[in-house]
Amino acid sequence: MTEKQRAKITVVGSINMDLMIRASNLPLPGETVIADTKVENPGGKGANQAVAAARMGADVTMIGCVGDDSFATQLLQNLKGEGVDTSHITRRENTASGVAVVMVEESGENAILVVPGANGLVSQQEIDRARQAICDNDILLMQLEVPQEIVVYATQIASEAGVSVILDPAPAPLEYHADLLNVDLICPNQSEAAALLGKPVESMDDAVSLIKELTQLGPKQAIITMGEQGAVLFDGETVQTIPALPIQVVDSTASGDAFAAGLAVRLAENASLIEAVKFASAAGALAASGAGAQTAMPTREEIETLLERQ
Ligand code: RIB
Repeated sequence: MTEKQRAKITVVGSINMDLMIRASNLPLPGETVIADTKVENPGGKGANQAVAAARMGADVTMIGCVGDDSFATQLLQNLKGEGVDTSHITRRENTASGVAVVMVEESGENAILVVPGANGLVSQQEIDRARQAICDNDILLMQLEVPQEIVVYATQIASEAGVSVILDPAPAPLEYHADLLNVDLICPNQSEAAALLGKPVESMDDAVSLIKELTQLGPKQAIITMGEQGAVLFDGETVQTIPALPIQVVDSTASGDAFAAGLAVRLAENASLIEAVKFASAAGALAASGAGAQTAMPTREEIETLLERQ
């Protein structure tokens, strides 16, 4: 299949304001740690993926909800400034926008608490109003910070129109809707894969031996990202491994979001799954080498430069 010029991606997902706090180490339960810095930056897994895909050169339509607070104005302006189509984002009255407290320690490891706010109110109405965009675009990309039934509903609409659906199952659900994983591709990280499978996924060997089980839960294809160990993919026929790119981790907060966006963009451009995973891995590595969520999302040029150097 020949490659297309410009990917068209729909993202259904969360839009948060991130309160990012950096400290030497993450607090243990019951512990108090004095932090170094605090900044407010736009985040949310959905919005992060939308911004990342736009920086990779895609036309991006975002579907979601913000509240009617001052964060909502900032979040919408930021998405517009990144070139994302925000016409299908609803401002919910008397509602707070989603907020995340993102704690990052020196090693780059993080812990995140999310108050969903307006993200929890994304409804079938938002999806119905954006039906044309979902059906006209190449790929529907989703995560799990909006209600599961909405993910299932949007999946059905896209699938009926022959549009591929990628689900980044983050955060990992404690329980999930029977149809949640009936998508074309899922891309959990190792802890999300372990949660879905009910088994530990600690090494590349674990991921290689368990990845086909993930597709038995519904998706046609699967990728497990293993952080600094690399990634494992199953395209429905063969299992392959991709080594991680060597980088200095500064903040891994939105690395998975950059990865998911990279996959969506390259698959929409008709790249093979293995090519898409290589591109996505470079995007995820670059995101982890910068601070913040959307602030760390790489451009297409940065990703291609990193890949050329390998
Ligand atoms: O994936 C990172 C994101 O998770 C953060 O931006 C935060 O908002 C949470 O949604």
